[in-house]
Amino acid sequence: MSLIKIVRTRMELRSVVSEWRAAGTAVALTPTMGALHEGHLSLVRLARSLADRSVVSLFVNPTQFGPNEDFEAYPRNELQDAELLEGAGCDLLYAPAAEEIYPPGFSTSIEVSGVSKPMEGAKRPTHFAGVATIVSKLLIQCQADFATFGEKDYQQLQLIRRLVRDLDIPTTVVGGPIVRDEDGLALSSRNAYLTENERSVAPALYRTLRSAAEALGQGATVSAVESRSIHELRTAGFDVVDYFDVRNPEDLQPLGPGRITGPARIIAAAQIGRTRLLDNVAV
Ligand code: PAJ
Repeated sequence: MSLIKIVRTRMELRSVVSEWRAAGTAVALTPTMGALHEGHLSLVRLARSLADRSVVSLFVNPTQFGPNEDFEAYPRNELQDAELLEGAGCDLLYAPAAEEIYPPGFSTSIEVSGVSKPMEGAKRPTHFAGVATIVSKLLIQCQADFATFGEKDYQQLQLIRRLVRDLDIPTTVVGGPIVRDEDGLALSSRNAYLTENERSVAPALYRTLRSAAEALGQGATVSAVESRSIHELRTAGFDVVDYFDVRNPEDLQPLGPGRITGPARIIAAAQIGRTRLLDNVAV
């Protein structure tokens, strides 16, 4: 049996958090969709390094899934998640039902222009409005001093930074580094979908990103690196490369086609079988 405290309504959440804050205790929120792994837990530990109390939200947000995506199949295991969270130092789990978040009549959607448009935004047209809306709600419901998000979803992280600035949400957003398996594959709840053979292809994504970063650092052009990397991924066994882009790390504007002259982020998404993998590296 897990000992961690679980609340399911925003009223209960608000009352626990306001007690903590009234006692002068800082609070950090880590939003998740559950099926937790070391990547999520590293963000909980980061939260605990920033604040004395950690709140984790667990909500598989239907509005960020497209009509033919994996909302139904998305892995769910609240009991195991609660146990993992307790070990990572989380103090409170907020696990609301869908009706608590989207009661009848709910009609607001938050649209962040610019950073939400390319890459994941082009591939999944309604995804980021779903993310922006749920993250705004969670930040407002929790009233945390800090919130931690992973660099794994780099475009999402930049979108949330923009959103929090634009809406004057009084929470400091802190990004955490990508946690990987020993062979370099970024941990993801969706890795559970990979067959054994697909799993052996998957680490090529990070390998290709790293060699692309190295080539850019040595003066190769963006266009040459992008096209060679896409070819490498196809050869390694990826079925589709959705994008492999060298971009400005802040506003996510495309860089190139020539050499880069400052910091960059290479961001990629590729599919093996029915699974889409996302990863990125700094240059
Ligand atoms: P989810 O995919 O569950 O991820 C929750 C948080 O964990 C995100 O900030 C994500 O970037 C981070 N994360 C996932 N894998 C990671 C890894 N290998 N290393 C470091 N961090 C990792 O992202 C979402 O949920 C949702 O979109 C959410 C923000 C909760 C809104 O519904």
